[in-house]
Amino acid sequence: MLNIILMGPPGAGKGTQAKKLIAEFNIPHISTGDMFREAIKEGTPLGKLAASYINDGHLVPDDVTIGLVKERLSKSDCAHGYLLDGFPRTIPQAEALESISKEIGREISHVIDIETPKEELVRRICGRRVCKKCGAPYHVINIKPKVDGVCDICGGELIQRPDDNEEALSVRLEAYTKQTQPLLEYYQKKGLLTKFDGSNSSDLTPKLVAFLRG
Ligand code: AP5
Ligand code: MG
Repeated sequence: MLNIILMGPPGAGKGTQAKKLIAEFNIPHISTGDMFREAIKEGTPLGKLAASYINDGHLVPDDVTIGLVKERLSKSDCAHGYLLDGFPRTIPQAEALESISKEIGREISHVIDIETPKEELVRRICGRRVCKKCGAPYHVINIKPKVDGVCDICGGELIQRPDDNEEALSVRLEAYTKQTQPLLEYYQKKGLLTKFDGSNSSDLTPKLVAFLRG
């Protein structure tokens, strides 16, 4: 069973690869960032709380994030595996995930780290556009839509994320280095971590698919 964590700094390509992998393996894509953005769009209390952290690049508090993932993982569509994107991001989140995944009988099988150099992350984040409707990621130079400003998949409008500016990005990169990077050692010690080069990844998806097929 594929119970996957996709890790990597902001802009590494987690969302881009996740969308391709879930189509290949037919498992749900659980992105905490997408879940928070959905709540912000709907104007729920969770969304209001999340916006106060996300827009400046800070992490949402652990208790909120863990509760959200716990509820999501208990849904029936996770019965045959899942792909987590952007969770866990702190040691307490990883510890919580360990007990949640044991409780539901779906322990983590693979932790994939997409490594990408910092200069490339900045270029990708500053040029990213996302579909307002379905969240599909594009890039003004690297990954252009067929029609300017319009999503290839659903025809939605392409916009820039509020946290995709240099100021918020430097906060996000710092949060990644201080709070998330230690997880690589945590999962390395458990023998679950595999690193992939995400810097020039036209061939990354087939590599990931072959790896996950084992
Ligand atoms: P989240 O939405 O998870 O953002 P992130 O981790 O900063 O990562 P990104 O989505 O920015 O990048 P990505 O790796 O998905 O790259 P993408 O595929 O889009 O989290 C947002 C916020 O929510 C956090 O800052 C935090 O506030 C909060 N949050 C979320 N989870 C949390 C948690 N667990 N705990 C606490 N808070 C949490 O690609 C980027 C760009 O590059 C795109 O334009 C794409 O088209 C392009 N691109 C992708 N691959 C390539 C390639 N190979 N070559 C060239 N260009 C490429
Ligand atoms: Mg993403």
